[in-house]
Amino acid sequence: MTSSFIQVLNGQPKNPVPIWMMRQAGRHLPEYLALRSQAKNFLDFCYSPAMAAEATLQPIQRYDMDAAILFADILLVLDAMGFNVEFEKRIGPLVETIAPDKPLKQVPVETAVSRLSPVYETVRRVRQKLPFDKVLIGFCGAPWTVALYAIEGRGGTDKSVARSWAYLHPSALKNLLDAIIEISALYLKGQVDAGADAVMLFESWAEGLPDNVFQQIVCQPNAALIARLRDLGVTVPIIGFPRGAGTVLGNFVSSVPVNGVGLDTSISPDFVNQTVPTNIAVQGHLDPLLLIAGGEALDQRVRDILTAYKHRPHIFNLGHGVRPETPIAHVQRVVDLVREGV
Ligand code: CP3
Repeated sequence: MTSSFIQVLNGQPKNPVPIWMMRQAGRHLPEYLALRSQAKNFLDFCYSPAMAAEATLQPIQRYDMDAAILFADILLVLDAMGFNVEFEKRIGPLVETIAPDKPLKQVPVETAVSRLSPVYETVRRVRQKLPFDKVLIGFCGAPWTVALYAIEGRGGTDKSVARSWAYLHPSALKNLLDAIIEISALYLKGQVDAGADAVMLFESWAEGLPDNVFQQIVCQPNAALIARLRDLGVTVPIIGFPRGAGTVLGNFVSSVPVNGVGLDTSISPDFVNQTVPTNIAVQGHLDPLLLIAGGEALDQRVRDILTAYKHRPHIFNLGHGVRPETPIAHVQRVVDLVREGV
């Protein structure tokens, strides 16, 4: 039988709605911190199928979530392509950068895809252990977000260097995006062949782009990646997440053929209902900071989100990832409220 999670992604509303949370595996869980302390570094952790599978399953064992998300990172793709990637404590990821006038040094696509094979093994192990009614979500970074790390070396900047490439070095940017699209498509196919039931494309740095540039470097590459995936015979539902798209969210859903769309904390449910066609599932919104704060305001916001999307396919989620300081009781409270339904 198809799980209600997949039914929602196929366009059917459900009450109660399915729930999972971005970064549900991670530092807010003491069992994650214990496991993490056994790994030499974060990349080793991601490339260890035993540890990554355990981290993927931890939130499912603790909470009644409907989906597990593969434990990995969007920057594994750059690592596999031959970029030096490091995760620094308190700073976040640091990536070796490329120059616009230098050819893209790159390992052959087959080599890159096979370097990622420990991730496929993680997926196999998780799918074997996961109850049949729980969904396993595979993922990768969406092309522009991955390209941004290769150009700027880190996230959280004002993106001006990478954004200028759209004007100053459009063909170098296109070559980089095309290389990322090809390996990402093969990587996601590897995850689906290993047992992922749905995939999500994280476009974390979509904020603040002019509409024509948004079309060129976000919508077109996301659409090209999906076209390539379908071409490779991948049929599972796909969730897009153009974080910070704001008023151009409608451009995204009309030009990228996703089954579901992730919503960040900043757009209103009213805007979403006016903008996103009802055959596309919506997921997201809840502010991770409200999840930390808890109390009546959290309960009220959860109910408001459920009510706003009562008549359309909806998967409950946050507008961004669970933060390390989040109390477990608050996550539990949200799961309970969502299970009650509206
Ligand atoms: O539970 C899950 O969501 C599964 C695993 C997952 C991770 N990263 C693990 C991780 C997923 C889906 C990601 C995606 C990811 N990684 C994104 C897209 C989503 C988003 O947050 O916008 C981005 C931009 C990255 C890049 C990245 N990786 C950053 C910016 C950081 C540092 C920030 C931080 O929280 O420390 C990471 C490291 C990272 N990836 C951690 C985890 C659990 C923390 C590292 C640790 O445990 O030591």
